[in-house]
Amino acid sequence: MLSDDNTAFEALLEYLKRSRGFDFSGYKRSSFQRRVQKQMHLRGASSYEDYIDYLEVHPEEFVSLLSTVLINVTSFFRDAAAWSYLQEQALPPLLLAKSPNEPIRIWSVGCASGEEAHTLAMILTELLGATAFRQRVKLYATDIDEDALSHARHATYSQRDLEPLPEGYRERYFELSGDRYIFRADLRRVVIFGRHDLVQDAPISRLDLLVCRNTLMYFNAQTQARILSRLHFALSNTGVLFLGKAEMLLTHTNLFTPINLSHRIFAKVPKPNLGDRVLETP
Ligand SMILES: C[S@@+](CC[C@H](N)C(=O)[O-])C[C@H]1O[C@@H](n2cnc3c(N)ncnc32)[C@H](O)[C@@H]1O
Repeated sequence: MLSDDNTAFEALLEYLKRSRGFDFSGYKRSSFQRRVQKQMHLRGASSYEDYIDYLEVHPEEFVSLLSTVLINVTSFFRDAAAWSYLQEQALPPLLLAKSPNEPIRIWSVGCASGEEAHTLAMILTELLGATAFRQRVKLYATDIDEDALSHARHATYSQRDLEPLPEGYRERYFELSGDRYIFRADLRRVVIFGRHDLVQDAPISRLDLLVCRNTLMYFNAQTQARILSRLHFALSNTGVLFLGKAEMLLTHTNLFTPINLSHRIFAKVPKPNLGDRVLETP
């Protein structure tokens, strides 16, 4: 890429940050640029400068650009074997270690249209029963994309979307409404959807389980490192981190230790607190 082109691309990033508050500087450059160029091509813009002009004149273009650059692909029980492991092996000891009425705090980061958060709601209901799920679980689900969040809040899905569900789950967890399926209302109320930018906003804290799947991989190594140290802070000392199948801990491997590496499930390694360090000092 020519250096002039780079300067023009930086100007576009700066424009998006200033005019819309979205900071895309930490996304992997080449794939992000490819997506922007696809959008430019659709609009007949032959340079980044032209595209900034287009965005100025057509404010609605921003929504379309967002849906191209933020990849909302998701599904229920995505990578089914990893979810089985979470449900059958990783979560039971975590739940057993808690006293019976203690809250259970969970965060689905980059939740897209809500399938992941609703998958969590189903497996926690299987493990705890619906009453304890409603009473004890706080399930936060966030994304940067308001459009995706609006789908998630409606919690209605097509028959096709429900295909990955294990046998019996559709009947237990969804009600038919017209030709769509809606997630059970009593459980739906537990899931709190909100807008949160993983790069710029402070994390939710004291979490038992943090699910950040197929989102980290869109960021460059430096930004992944910043995000991972925030996720580490967000977890309680006994908390568990669940990443996507294609995601590796590129940095900060000392902050997490694998529970099951192939399913990308990790335990937090607590940071020694000041008291410990004072004791260790000769
Ligand atoms: C491919 S989807 C992953 C959905 C789900 N976690 C899964 O694994 O199926 C990636 C999501 O990350 C969201 N995302 C991208 N940048 C983000 C940011 N800075 N903060 C929060 N979410 C972001 C996108 O809007 C998109 O919904």
